[in-house]
Amino acid sequence: MAIGTTLKQPLNTSRQTQRHKPMQTEHLFPNATDLDRAANILLAGGLVAFATETVYGLGGDARNDHAVARIFAAKGRPRFNPLIVHVANLDQARRYGAFDARAMAVAAAFWPGPLTLVVPLRPDSGLSPLVTAELPSVAIRVPAHPVAQALLTAFGGPLAAPSANRSGRISPTRAAHVFDGLSGKIEAVLEGGTCSVGVESTILGLLGAPELLRPGGIDLETLEAMLGPLQTGGSAIKPSAPGQLASHYAPNASVTLNVTVNTAGAVHLGFGPDAPNCRSSLNLSPGADLIEAAANLFHLLREADLLAGPDGAITVAPIPENGLGRAINDRLRRAAAPRYL
Ligand code: TXA
Ligand code: MG
Repeated sequence: MAIGTTLKQPLNTSRQTQRHKPMQTEHLFPNATDLDRAANILLAGGLVAFATETVYGLGGDARNDHAVARIFAAKGRPRFNPLIVHVANLDQARRYGAFDARAMAVAAAFWPGPLTLVVPLRPDSGLSPLVTAELPSVAIRVPAHPVAQALLTAFGGPLAAPSANRSGRISPTRAAHVFDGLSGKIEAVLEGGTCSVGVESTILGLLGAPELLRPGGIDLETLEAMLGPLQTGGSAIKPSAPGQLASHYAPNASVTLNVTVNTAGAVHLGFGPDAPNCRSSLNLSPGADLIEAAANLFHLLREADLLAGPDGAITVAPIPENGLGRAINDRLRRAAAPRYL
């Protein structure tokens, strides 16, 4: 699709208009016409939320300062924090980041897929400094979801994309979740069904010794089988970002973890066959399967929140701390953390 193609509908991107008149968020589908429309919106500096296999991302042109600033505004993010750059393949990734032999091998093993690599930023990347928060490094990911791939191919450039939710709230794994939080604030949502992984990508730092910066869709055991033991627990290069704040992924109801006892007034989020007595219960995975639990996590947290009501309580069963359980527990701990935001 050529740059400069005329838009069927004018974009509503001026700050003045946005403040006073919410835009109509279009629901687009992954057919040729709508993908062309989505690519045009992005090329004009607009925002399109799209499905990846992890969660829906809120995409904007990573080279365009105004588009990237609008991502932060739409999410209501308090600060400018570095975003993940999404590209269609490793060749494109190498236009923005410097890939040494180790990074090439990791990318070849896990891309496309739910893994983000932090590598040195190329001085000639052309990315907006807002994307990298002016760090000398960049986080890059090649998503596997066919709709993300189709959008990246139609657009032909790098997309900055944090999860498509209001800052501090539960990440979206369905188009309806995106509309719940961002309707009227972004130009379009590109439909891609339910996200199969359900938790965000694992972030692997490759600036020095390999470091796990965020547990996610590729588990630690799998990465360590290739790279040996990973550093964890933070380093000087780890930026302060909302996904790393204590309270994040927060429902309205209170959240209490590792609950096995009866809780009369609460909505219980179970894992495995046993469920304590409670007001009502939902189950992340009756068969105690961590992959299924990850895929269900954000949707069932939203459902539990609705069932619990504004001042209600959600209790969650213990989840094993291995495989995808690490990413699940990381998100649950943040959902349960005291809220200062
Ligand atoms: O699965 C995902 O990764 C989703 C989907 C949409 O792709 N995206 C996502 O993006 O979770 P976001 O913006 O929520 O995550 C960005 C995180 C930041 O919290 C930060 O920790 C890390 O990426 N990050 C970005 N740039 C970095 C850098 N240069 N060095 C270290 N960490 C970085
Ligand atoms: Mg997020």
